[in-house]
Amino acid sequence: MAIRRLQQVIQSVPTSDGAGVKLRRSIGSQRGLYVDPFLMLDEFSTDNPHDYIAGFPPHPHRGFETVTYMLDGHLLHEDHLGNKGDLKSGGAQWMTAGRGIIHSEMPQQTEGRMRGFQLWINLPAAEKMKPAWYRDIEPHEIAQVQLAHGGTAKVIAGTLDVAGVKTDGPITGRSTEPLYLDVELPPGATFRHAITGDYNAFIYLYEGALTIGAANEARLLKTQCAGVLSHGDEIAATAQGGAARFLLLAGKPIQEPVVQYGPFVMNTREEVEQAVHDYQNGVLAA
Ligand code: CO
Repeated sequence: MAIRRLQQVIQSVPTSDGAGVKLRRSIGSQRGLYVDPFLMLDEFSTDNPHDYIAGFPPHPHRGFETVTYMLDGHLLHEDHLGNKGDLKSGGAQWMTAGRGIIHSEMPQQTEGRMRGFQLWINLPAAEKMKPAWYRDIEPHEIAQVQLAHGGTAKVIAGTLDVAGVKTDGPITGRSTEPLYLDVELPPGATFRHAITGDYNAFIYLYEGALTIGAANEARLLKTQCAGVLSHGDEIAATAQGGAARFLLLAGKPIQEPVVQYGPFVMNTREEVEQAVHDYQNGVLAA
């Protein structure tokens, strides 16, 4: 079993999106900085209402999926199809934009902590124009599993295997086969998990410090950094100097050209121009 090495560190950078929501972007913070099929990862984490109160008023997406996972806070989601969802602490929302969605995500609190993540997962060409779909995932639908060597993991997508006992997340059956775990380790504990050898994987560390890789080639990952892993059969990560909390993402690479213009991610420039044109003409999602 080849243990994956920490191959590249992507430091998250402060930015803002929507109507001025402050966040930190790692994957996707520069053009082409993707970990196929993952296009972007944002962390929002603040106790200051001015950093989030304006929210994300109506905006479009085409050609990929968005996954919003809340640690703390309360967001209301609405889309042009009339769907409405309440996103609360510990819950998630999975949205397949497909050919088009116009939605808003607005804070339902005026004080307190807002903390969570938004991940963008690409769709293959054959699925970019499929109808939009979404699912609200209640906190109780996300299993929290005790790990073999200490700590816990929440399974947002894919399958966690702890000593042969398998736990499925609420989202399975996507062509990119994403594994999305939220892992919490006590000081010194090691998390190990098998991952299909040629799937791409990264860890986003949001609390503490981690060493990643086999003992003889372990490298340190610091807080608020994404660590892109080499290919290999297994990941190994150890909490250093205190507890650690991180997201682990892995998925099957799509291996197609990515052309992105803001909220539109297609395969060619012409397709992106078409998306802009469709949005301007009110037929993005028609
Ligand atoms: Co959006």
